[in-house]
Amino acid sequence: MQSYSLFAPAKINLHLEIIGDRADGYHELVMIMQSVNLGDIIHIRANGTDKIRLYCQNPQVPLDDSNLAYKAVALMQKKYPQSARNFGGVDITIEKNIPVAAGLAGGSTNGAGVLVGINLMWSLGLTQPELRELGSLLGSDVPFCISGGTSIATGRGEEIEPLSDLTDIWVILAKYSNLGVSTPWAYNSYREQYNHLYVSDGEEAKSRTHKVHSGELVKAITAKDTEAIGRLLYNDLEKIVLPEYPAVSELITAFKQENVLGSMMSGSGPTVFALCTTEKEANSIVQKVQNSINDPNLHFWVAQMCPHGIVSIEH
Ligand code: C5P
Repeated sequence: MQSYSLFAPAKINLHLEIIGDRADGYHELVMIMQSVNLGDIIHIRANGTDKIRLYCQNPQVPLDDSNLAYKAVALMQKKYPQSARNFGGVDITIEKNIPVAAGLAGGSTNGAGVLVGINLMWSLGLTQPELRELGSLLGSDVPFCISGGTSIATGRGEEIEPLSDLTDIWVILAKYSNLGVSTPWAYNSYREQYNHLYVSDGEEAKSRTHKVHSGELVKAITAKDTEAIGRLLYNDLEKIVLPEYPAVSELITAFKQENVLGSMMSGSGPTVFALCTTEKEANSIVQKVQNSINDPNLHFWVAQMCPHGIVSIEH
């Protein structure tokens, strides 16, 4: 086939812990990542030229070679030059539903979608682990976005181990459209303030990772204990972002006052998520928090945890 459409879900972090510095300049992390069914649709088509062309209705999305979707095509062309010659250039249209610069891996999931789409379109037959390895060349969150669901991510974030699926939890996402947080800024500020706590010994780093593997949140996920999951949310980057962005902190407090299962910032923010047991409850909490904060820049989405990453859809 000459064209494919893919659903590319956003992610939230249920756990984000910074362990130390890595030799490659990144941070050693241990995270628990969760896909949600708020996602972008990516259409991918051989265009009969030698060009990579990007289209998106959202003006915040760059359409040049800085976009991970573009980089994903360029990477596949470089790795598989014979297929690139056979099939020619690629048109990519992104239907953007995931908020941009939000801590929801919107850019990463687009890059992941393009890798999966080209694998199908060029009949390369790459496996998920092979696609994840290619994804790690594009960005730390791309490998998770490929397989999705519920996973522990370690290393730079690119080493993925699946956990049992969560699907019965509803997720409110809330973001101020006038706020954006730079991920490098958040990590670099964390390093400046907390590097005295960094683990430098490899064994100690392993033991910190192991603690999460055998820890309470993983047990709660395995037992599908939604209350415990809500109670055990954790994100080191809140220590940096919340003092700098009090509105984000107030949003978390507003959700907690509505007795959600739990509320936290996702990734490096500024999106806040809140967990609920039903869609009805999620919608009613959105109304209440919207009324109490009453800011036209504050936008809400109601989604559900979902057990997959990139999937091909009818087009
Ligand atoms: O890998 P990605 O390009 O998504 O990372 C964005 C930025 O986040 C990096 O440039 C770095 O500043 C920070 N980061 C980090 N350690 C990680 C992942 C990301 O310091 N494991």
